[in-house]
Formats: sequence, C-alpha cells, structure tokens
Amino acid sequence: MTRHFLRDDDLTPAEQAEILDLAAEIKADRWALKPLAGPQTVAVIFDKSSTRTRVSFAVGIADLGGVPLIISTANSQLGGKESPSDTARVLERQVAAIVWRTYGQSGLIEMAANTTVPVINALSDEFHPCQLLADFLTIREHKGALTGLTVTFLGDGADNMVHSYLLAGATAGMHVRVACPADYMPDSRIVADADAIAVQTGGSVTLYTDPLAAVAGADVVVTDTWVSMGKEVEKAARVAALSSFTVDAELMALAKSDAIFLHCLPADRGYEVTSEVIDGPQSVIWDEAENRLHAQKALMVWLLERAG
Ligand code: CP
Ligand code: NVA
Repeated sequence: MTRHFLRDDDLTPAEQAEILDLAAEIKADRWALKPLAGPQTVAVIFDKSSTRTRVSFAVGIADLGGVPLIISTANSQLGGKESPSDTARVLERQVAAIVWRTYGQSGLIEMAANTTVPVINALSDEFHPCQLLADFLTIREHKGALTGLTVTFLGDGADNMVHSYLLAGATAGMHVRVACPADYMPDSRIVADADAIAVQTGGSVTLYTDPLAAVAGADVVVTDTWVSMGKEVEKAARVAALSSFTVDAELMALAKSDAIFLHCLPADRGYEVTSEVIDGPQSVIWDEAENRLHAQKALMVWLLERAG
C-alpha cells in the first residue's frame, strides 16, 4: 500500500522514531545510504514561495541519486486548468514521488487519493510536517530525546506549524503548550486529534492565552511568523493582536535555563521574536534549517523503500 505524508499523525510513534533515527544516521554520514533504486525523478511542486524547502528537497533528492523536478504552479496547469486528481494520474506514470507545497489540505488529500506514488506535504495552510521532522531531529540532538519534554509554541495559534507541533508532539509523547490570543486558537478538531494521540503516548496538549504561564519551565520554545503566506492582508490586525506574544529575552528567561529556541524561518525579527533571542545562545535555528535536508532524505527513503 502506498504511504503518504500529508500530516504529522500519518506516522505512528514507532515510525516517527524510525525516520528520525534514519535521519540521524544520514546526517552522521551524508553518503552512507545506497542510492534509491532507479534512477528516480521526484516532482517538487510549489504554489507558494520557498527557500529552505526547495533547496533541501532538491539537494536531498540529488544526494539520493535521484533527479528533482521543481515545478512552479504559476507556469503549470495545476491550480488553474487541471485538478489535483488528473495531475496525480499524469505524474505517477513518470515520477517516483510527488512533493507539494500548497494552500488547502484538501488538494493534497485529492492528489494522494488518486496516485500510486507517495505524496509529501511540503507545507499547506493546515500543516508543515516535513518541518517537524527537522525540528524533532534538532531537539533530539540538543536534548537527547523527545518523550516527556515540554515544548511551548507562542504566537499565531491557527498556524500550520502549531497544528503540526500538536500532532507530532503528541505522537512523540511530548507536553505541547500553545499560547495565543483567544481569536487565534488552533483548529479544535486538530487539538482533539492531538489529545487522543497524547492519551496513548503519555504526552499532553494545553492551550493558554497567557504567554508567561505557557513558557514557565519549558524545555523548548518555538514561534513562527505572525503573517503566514496567504494572510498578508491581515498583517496590521495580526500585529496588533499578537504583540504581547513576542519571544524576547524576558520571556525566554522564564523557560528552563537550558531551554532551546526554534523557528522554522523565515523570521520577522522584532515581531514574533527579538533579534536578541533568535541570534542568541539558546537559538538552534541554523541546525534546524540544515536538518530539513537530513530529515527529508530519511522520509523519502522510508516512503519509497521501507514503509510497510
Ligand atoms: N521553513 C520553511 O519551510 O522555509 P521555506 O518557506 O523557505 O521553504
Ligand atoms: N507559517 C508559515 C511557515 C513558513 C515556512 C507560512 O505558512 O507562511
């Protein structure tokens, strides 16, 4: 059966750990893996801008002996004339996998339902699961393990990164706290899904409107832009609503003294995080950005050659 990676809870706890272990092995020896059986071409489609995702998939596919085919929807038929299902049927005859950054999750679901090759979510309005594999590889490197850690996300609670932290964190048995204004809460269905996973893994999910309470004693502090792609017209309202959620040195001081700071990037310094924090000693953002490469290579090898 073809496995897809559309949202973080598409992986069981054991599968998430297996991919992270493989990512760590790949990082330790970048060329240790034998190339993918092939040669294989992977379609990497972008409806939205990207630096890290584009580069890390292109480099990762090339590292694995494959060929990245980078497609911008601006000059393809997808998104305009052609549906995700018809596109899926065309692509599956020629490529080994489809990686897609898009708006609504529904397009990814339609694509996956109509193809025999793995579909990977490279960011949607709802989730950013590849980023979470990189974040968790980074957290493991700095903290040794994931289970039992407290991770606090501050800012826009309806963000794709929050939804992915809820599901991936619960899968890993972490205690996930989200602090956001009442009007910017995560999707309640995703919170319920994360809660159900956390019951099985010993993790937990807690929502706050007070950033100080949410960050107290945290092992990991995370934020993301207040103005995600597609929400640019809301910028002024968002900045006004979220201004007390800036991660600054005062807030970081409430977390554990050895807490680390993550941000998927790109960052709006001075808004969701101060330069002092993002460029400071607790910040691990450059490891995090590098780990996109290793984590996605592991994901592709797992989906193409190891998934049961
Ligand atoms: N973090 C991330 O996905 O960055 P890009 O938008 O540059 O791909
Ligand atoms: N939440 C951000 C993540 C960017 C990588 C966005 O969707 O724009």
